[in-house]
Amino acid sequence: GLPARVRIHEVGPRDGLQNEKATVPTEVKAEFIRRLADAGLTTIEATSFVHPKWVPQLADAEELFPMVSGLPVDLPVLVPNERGLERALSLSATRVAVFASATESFAKANLNRTVDEALAMFEPVVRRAKDGGAHVRGYLSMCFGDPWEGPVPVDQVVRVCRALRDMGCDELSLGDTIGVATPGHVLRLLAALNEGGVPTGVIGVHFHDTYGQALANTLAALQHGVTTVDASAGGLGGCPYAKSATGNLATEDLVWMLRGLGIDTGVDLGRLVATSEWMAGRLGRPSPSRTLRALSHK
Ligand code: HMG
Ligand code: MG
Repeated sequence: GLPARVRIHEVGPRDGLQNEKATVPTEVKAEFIRRLADAGLTTIEATSFVHPKWVPQLADAEELFPMVSGLPVDLPVLVPNERGLERALSLSATRVAVFASATESFAKANLNRTVDEALAMFEPVVRRAKDGGAHVRGYLSMCFGDPWEGPVPVDQVVRVCRALRDMGCDELSLGDTIGVATPGHVLRLLAALNEGGVPTGVIGVHFHDTYGQALANTLAALQHGVTTVDASAGGLGGCPYAKSATGNLATEDLVWMLRGLGIDTGVDLGRLVATSEWMAGRLGRPSPSRTLRALSHK
């Protein structure tokens, strides 16, 4: 069966904008987040407290976060280490996310660490966040394929998911960073996670649409019982490690499918489309979302 309700974890302002070539002005980012909240999204990943040299697009986190923190929605932020956590907590963030990798190559490229060194870096972050009453999400990248290592064995993914759970992460997000997953692989991984002691209730899915499989993968995950789905308004973003990557599953495409399935999300599709059209105008490039194009007024 399918779930009656799905929680959309909107990642456009973070995963989307971090990968856009243009750096968007802080006021435009704040307006984007306000409009997404107004369209009914209740979890909007706002920014990252990472090293500004690694992700210059999000270097304005200190200015942006206070501009939106009063909104009546959850605003998770990424924190790679204790320095990042301190920056986030000093602005009263209540939801943070660490981000691990299932592969050594991406751990090195993204975090300048081995997989286990990165886990050791997250351990005090998760503990201190939990002690301070924050909700902690644990991302795991390259859960299906890796641009340097190829297909990723499910056991490798299960091991790191277990480590994130044991550390105290409230929720996990399985990242298909380069968008190579297919539905059978998704089901095999979810079954292996359950067998390895990770319950479906703590699992979210994070698909990128590079090969056009993100919706099919999402449907497979829903049929397995997953109820948290990451998506990016207008399908913003890309991935610096995969040429022709088209970004995350577009929130519009997800909402269209869920609406057709009779699954409640609380999102007003018209307002969401208008927001993504406005953002595409600011970025100066059309959205890759098929649903957005179909419903577009332009
Ligand atoms: P490093 O160079 O090894 O850092 O980078 P370090 O720990 O050696 O510190 C070096 C300097 O950076 C120090 O300053 C620190 O204070 C400073 P110095 O003493 O030399 O003057 N520093 C910081 N400054 C501000 N904020 C911080 C911070 N940390 C250290 N938080 C590090 C290690 C983890 C910091 C770096 O690799 C980094 O910032 N990486 C972030 C990369 C990133 O954000 N990637 C995108 C997000 S992941 C993703 O998109 C995937 C996802 O969507 C899921 C999917 O699709 O798979 C989530
Ligand atoms: Mg991502």
